Amino acid sequence: METPTWPRVPCPEAAVARMLLLGWVLLQVAGASGTTEVVVAYNLTWKSTNFKTILEWEPKPINHVYTVQISPRLGNWKSKCFYTTDTECDLTDEIVNDVNQTYEARVLSYPADATDYSGEPPFTNSPEFTPYTETKLGLPTIQSFKQVGTKLNVTIQDARTLVRRNGTFLSLRDVFGKNLSYTLYYWKASSTGKKTAKTNTNEFLIDVDEGESYCFSVQAVIPSRKSNQKSPESSIECTHHKKEILLGIVIVVLVAVILTSILSVTLYKCRKGRAQQSGKESSPLNAA
Ligand SMILES: *[C@@H]1O[C@H](CO)[C@@H](O)[C@H](O)[C@H]1NC(C)=O
Ligand SMILES: *[C@@H]1O[C@H](CO)[C@@H](O)[C@H](O)[C@H]1NC(C)=O
Ligand SMILES: *[C@@H]1O[C@H](CO)[C@@H](O)[C@H](O)[C@H]1NC(C)=O
Ligand SMILES: *[C@@H]1O[C@H](CO)[C@@H](O)[C@H](O)[C@H]1NC(C)=O
Ligand SMILES: *[C@@H]1O[C@H](CO)[C@@H](O)[C@H](O)[C@H]1NC(C)=O
Repeated sequence: METPTWPRVPCPEAAVARMLLLGWVLLQVAGASGTTEVVVAYNLTWKSTNFKTILEWEPKPINHVYTVQISPRLGNWKSKCFYTTDTECDLTDEIVNDVNQTYEARVLSYPADATDYSGEPPFTNSPEFTPYTETKLGLPTIQSFKQVGTKLNVTIQDARTLVRRNGTFLSLRDVFGKNLSYTLYYWKASSTGKKTAKTNTNEFLIDVDEGESYCFSVQAVIPSRKSNQKSPESSIECTHHKKEILLGIVIVVLVAVILTSILSVTLYKCRKGRAQQSGKESSPLNAA
């Protein structure tokens, strides 16, 4: 019995089929090596202050793009920042839904020219992130202050966050309640010895020496936290009290007096000069 083999029976269909098969195999190999060339993200880092939350990573993409996914611990992945060439993604909108959740994110890498990519892209997981305990406290702002007699009243602005409840944005105080406190550092303008005061509201009312000027700055603190407990210190403000106010008035009056006398002397000289000049100018006319 004769068994026909490939070379002896020239069959054009078989040859075409073989070529197609070879081509397909080559494409698969090329595709696979293309995928392994896609660079995965590393150094995924959460940057979060007063709940404004951005995930950052490296490296800058060359021939690929990234998509970010985020999920609460027992939830579904949600994609953000689709096919981006950035190395950061703002995830604030996702985490403000529930700031007490623990979230995980991952960064997927795709080849730049394959937006209809169907395979499983390589990805890197982020560290876990719990906004309520991990978001950093932003720089506080002194809203107003007033020194009357022996009392200094300092009010701190209640920063607005992007956390919403019932359709309205919550302030930092709304979110943290009595867990949030403020420290006031204050000192006499004439010395450097600092004192501190604490409050779990947004207002300080402290005893001071009458007639003295004070300088101060504030810091937000969440004592129950283990890390990221404190905000940076606010800019320094100073009160200007009696002695300084009197000195200020004296200086202003002196400056005004000096300026006025300089001005009148200059004006006088100027007028005199002009009178002389016009006298000279008129002489040729007179001569003509
Ligand atoms: C990751 O980031 C840290 C600081 O942000 C840097 O010191 C470190 O070198 C980075 N790692 C790599 C592999 O680039
Ligand atoms: C988050 O949890 C803390 C206690 O763990 C609670 O006091 C606070 O109200 C919660 N905040 C929100 C927005 O659910
Ligand atoms: C302190 O100042 C704030 C803002 O001006 C004011 O609302 C508050 O009543 C003052 N507190 C006291 C105890 O005077
Ligand atoms: C939201 O609003 C509803 C009614 O408008 C109210 O009953 C509920 O207590 C509010 N929830 C919060 C958390 O403030
Ligand atoms: C304060 O924070 C601690 C720890 O995060 C939490 O157990 C407590 O319920 C919080 N209290 C309030 C009033 O938010």
